[in-house]
Amino acid sequence: MFSALLLRSKKGDVRADVCSLEASDLPTVGDEAVLLEVLYSSLNYKDGLAVTGTGAVIRGEYPMVPGIDLVGRVQESRHEGFDPGDLAIGTGWQLGEAVWGGYTQQARVDGNTLVLLPAGLSPRQSMIAGTAGLTAMLSVLALEEHGVGPDAGEVVVTGASGGAGSLAVALLGSLGYAAAASTGSPEAHAYLRALGADRIVPRSEFEDGPARPMDTGTWAGAIDAVGGDTLATILSQVQRHGSVAAFGNAGGHALHTSVLPFILRGVNLLGIDSNTCPNARRRTAWERLADVLTDAHYERIHAETIALDAVPEAARRIVEGQVQGRILVDVTA
Ligand SMILES: NC(=O)c1ccc[n+]([C@@H]2O[C@H](COP(=O)([O-])OP(=O)(O)OC[C@H]3O[C@@H](n4cnc5c(N)ncnc54)[C@H](OP(=O)(O)O)[C@@H]3O)[C@@H](O)[C@H]2O)c1
Repeated sequence: MFSALLLRSKKGDVRADVCSLEASDLPTVGDEAVLLEVLYSSLNYKDGLAVTGTGAVIRGEYPMVPGIDLVGRVQESRHEGFDPGDLAIGTGWQLGEAVWGGYTQQARVDGNTLVLLPAGLSPRQSMIAGTAGLTAMLSVLALEEHGVGPDAGEVVVTGASGGAGSLAVALLGSLGYAAAASTGSPEAHAYLRALGADRIVPRSEFEDGPARPMDTGTWAGAIDAVGGDTLATILSQVQRHGSVAAFGNAGGHALHTSVLPFILRGVNLLGIDSNTCPNARRRTAWERLADVLTDAHYERIHAETIALDAVPEAARRIVEGQVQGRILVDVTA
């Protein structure tokens, strides 16, 4: 028997309870299944929506084990890439949305969606990073590939005190970028500076939308967790041939902008989707993450460790925007 957080839906009301399950309860996942003893998961904004039933995140059938991230030790494998005893990371690929996810002590996962834990990263650190870290790293890779390196000028991160934002600030700081952290949380200023931000920009400077289609070119690049009018404002303020890696919609998904930054300044808007990111690129991103961040980064970003039964309460907090950094879920606690 093992414990898992199970979501059930009754007439649209979603309930989350820790239940006892056995391996035969785990859904089948095809011919290349890997059975994992899960060690850690994490709490992302998307998990908050799923567990509270706030957003239309769950696309599979209930009951559902949520949790878009997991790291675990392989117990059995029908996939040639994994042997018993290996440590493997699963993030996205519909984990915790359409297939059972990481809030469990045991998981059966399609091996094609897993990557081996890279050298230099502990299982605990991998889930302090989780989808947030992978997404931040994919954003930095995208900026680098579009010519926005450490010498290009200032790069702004929005939603900076959140999970993915924190990881992005830490990565930029560690790589030697001039990082500006945009936050609506005054209490996060010292935290963001300690992570590597050179300056803080109040969230309010972006959230009203662009003053004009092309404003002063301030940013060499941007990593955006917020979307909506914040993203529209940033696009109007990006320098010639600069780039914006956009992954989030914490502030809204509508985007009212003009083509002028694209056609008169050559600005690039780069979409980041960690969920369906191909595995070869995931491996690159995880290895780079393991290289760039230090133990001190993970400890600063780690907000708290919670057990499975504390996930519903923490889910409410992340949806209300009350979480700074990353919440680790110790499924064995
Ligand atoms: N595309 C992908 O692959 C991908 C991957 C991961 C996450 N995401 C998305 O990225 C966003 C951030 O995810 P996360 O897990 O890092 O969430 P999170 O930890 O909750 O962080 C979100 C941050 O956004 C800011 N924020 C919250 N509400 C806002 C609002 N109404 N207007 C402006 N800023 C607001 C807050 O930062 P401050 O207080 O510092 O302003 C908050 O901490 C979410 O939309 C999530 O769904 C996408």
